[in-house]
Amino acid sequence: MAIAAGVLKIGLLGLGTVGSGTADILLHADRRHPLLQRLTIHRVGVRSLDKPRPVDLPASILTTDLESIVTDPDIDIVVEVIGGLEPARSLILKAIAHGKHVVTANKAVIARYGDEIFTAAEKAGVYVLEEAAVGGGIPVIQPLKQALSVNRIRTITGIVNGTTNYILTRMRSEGADFAEVLADAQRLGYAEADPTADVDGLDAADKITILASLAFGKRIKLEEVYCEGIRQISAADIAYAERLGFVIKLLAIAEQAWEQSGADGQPPRLSVRVHPTLLPQSHPLASVNEVYNAVLIEGEPIGQVMLYGPGAGSGPTASAVVSDILNIAALLGITSASQAPLHPLLAPSHQQSCRVSTIADLKTRFYARVLTQDQPGVIGKLGTCFGNHGVSLESVVQIDLRQGKAEIVVVTHNVLERNFRQALAELETLDVVAQIPSVLRVLADSL
Ligand code: HSE
Repeated sequence: MAIAAGVLKIGLLGLGTVGSGTADILLHADRRHPLLQRLTIHRVGVRSLDKPRPVDLPASILTTDLESIVTDPDIDIVVEVIGGLEPARSLILKAIAHGKHVVTANKAVIARYGDEIFTAAEKAGVYVLEEAAVGGGIPVIQPLKQALSVNRIRTITGIVNGTTNYILTRMRSEGADFAEVLADAQRLGYAEADPTADVDGLDAADKITILASLAFGKRIKLEEVYCEGIRQISAADIAYAERLGFVIKLLAIAEQAWEQSGADGQPPRLSVRVHPTLLPQSHPLASVNEVYNAVLIEGEPIGQVMLYGPGAGSGPTASAVVSDILNIAALLGITSASQAPLHPLLAPSHQQSCRVSTIADLKTRFYARVLTQDQPGVIGKLGTCFGNHGVSLESVVQIDLRQGKAEIVVVTHNVLERNFRQALAELETLDVVAQIPSVLRVLADSL
């Protein structure tokens, strides 16, 4: 499909927050890239024709018949910004089947059905681009596919959910508890009425699945990604973390698992996970606050690169959507054959699936807060119990008394999670231990 001198027609599915932002950029192309002037919004699919719209589009191009857009022979690129799993997935697949290129902001669909979608796209010879699915306006997908693709990526560590970062930032600055800050965030519109996807880490899991696939060139199964949210984080943990020189962040991490590469003759496993983590206050991600997102990419030979910016919102997300449209437009403009091969830096390179390691096999450091009887010998008993399971302690501090019990905070060296959990199980049986209110991972020392 060549557009040497013509215009490229866009079918926009959805005119909500991201759809309106996308239309706004396309309608006001002046002082932006000149190629934008060769793009036109041909039709827009909406749920209701009666709703007032923040953008000025002719009523004649609006329709509630979304299928008619993905099958419209005049449309070149379908932009899916309706969100949710269905009908988004089916519409994307139908658009591909009708030879349309697709731009989507839908992390939930790409994380779950990326395999099916990219296979169909490859067969049909069309692009499916998803810059807006991770990190809102931050360019992270294109850099991973292009500028950073000459590196061997070692680790991706991201703060990729603005809602939880906002909640943790306020808990830290106000000393407030999770429930209190969540309620206020909902009142202010920073958190959804149903906050599950954000606060339980599911949104971040979708995003790290997508980033890991690109960075490591393998398809990742979302159900194998370990996921833990922030509901259990207390003001007390944040305060203790602070006193020990840490800050608590919800991190999405993808890295090669610590086990010997290919020790069992199989390709090495990846560890892909989301969980709250204690980060040293000097770590580059520790100062990413409020609703901001950041992704730290570590590779060889480049070293560390951190991409930082607004992770959501109409304008930022639309910026990412339109950058994908522009990429496709540029490529269609420079090709002449109707069945030109896909550009290797934009088409997905991850075709084989990847083995993901279990959380029990993770090697990391831990923080645990333990309430015990306030009597001599308790710290010794704790140390012996951890030692029985090969868990080496970096520090053991008794900070306070809480409800008449001694509050002891333990930070370990790098340990195997399986061993640490066994030590905790034994700890719980000790008569001097009353409760273990929190267990959090601490960013591991380099393995
Ligand atoms: N719910 C997401 C967040 C929005 O809080 O970051 C963007 O994916």
